[in-house]
Parts: sequence; C-alpha cells; structure tokens
Amino acid sequence: MAVERTLSIIKPDAVAKNIIGKIYKRFEKAGLKIVGSRMIHLSQEKAEGFYAEHKERPFFPDLVAFMTSGPVVVSVLEGDNAVALHRELMGATNPAEAAPGTIRADFAQTIDENAVHGSDSPTSAAREIDYFFDEAELCPRTR
Ligand code: TYD
Ligand code: MG
Repeated sequence: MAVERTLSIIKPDAVAKNIIGKIYKRFEKAGLKIVGSRMIHLSQEKAEGFYAEHKERPFFPDLVAFMTSGPVVVSVLEGDNAVALHRELMGATNPAEAAPGTIRADFAQTIDENAVHGSDSPTSAAREIDYFFDEAELCPRTR
C-alpha cells in the first residue's frame, strides 16, 4: 500500500471541548503518524481560501464564520492509505449519518460543527498540506 500524507484539522468546536488528545489518540491507534502540527486561529481570508471549492454553496458563509470562531489544530498525518483511512476514522460529514465509533459520531452533534476536517483525495491533500505547511516544517519522510 502507498504511504500517503493527508491534512487534518481539529475544528473550533473540538478544540473548545478539550478533545485534541482524544482525537490524536485515534489517529495514532490507527497507525497514522503526526508529522506536522500547529494551532492557529484562521483569518477570514485563510478560511475562505481553504474552502474555496465550496464558495458558491449556501452554507459557505456559516462555514467560514464557524472556522474562524476559535483556534484550530492543523496537522499532517502520514501512513499507508492515509487519505482514505483518515476519512474512515472521521465518519460521514453529517454526524447523524456517521458510523458508530467514528470521530464525528462520538464527538459532534451537527453537520455544520462536525469536529474534524480531512482531505478527500491525494490531490486535495497535496494542496491542503501546502496551504498550511512548508516541507521543512514536517518530519522527514522515512520511506
Ligand atoms: P464537505 O467537503 O462536503 O464535507 P467534509 O468535511 O466531510 O469533507 O463540506 C465541508 C464542510 O462544510 C463540512 O465539514 C461542514 C460544512 N457543511 C455544512 O455546514 N452543511 C452542508 O450541508 C455540507 C455539505 C457541509
Ligand atoms: Mg470536504
């Protein structure tokens, strides 16, 4: 299986709930390695640019308002099949539809405040990692 990297964001609701460690524990338990990490408070411009693909969607203004409402933790996760594995750990976008035992099922209540973000493809992951990190800030690749 291919070693991949993916971008994780622990969103403002989860940071406010003090569950950064609980979420990190799930990543590590699943075999994902945290190879970069930073807490930041997104500006309006940075949040809008990150979610540019959703610019025309009705939920976009609320999404940006939420993502800028408090600090987030952006991380780069590395491992076999990391993009899909991370999405699996997160669960469906709507917590009400997320499989039992997933992060969103366990820690989120609503679709608009759903605890975590994860890149949805290797192409998105490359863009999103580059949006937040310089290669020199990340652990060197070991394989
Ligand atoms: P999306 O990329 O579809 O979901 P995911 O985070 O699972 O990749 O949407 C991005 C975020 O936009 C989503 O996490 C929460 C928000 N959102 C809403 O608030 N309402 C909606 O109907 C959708 C589809 C998304
Ligand atoms: Mg998405």
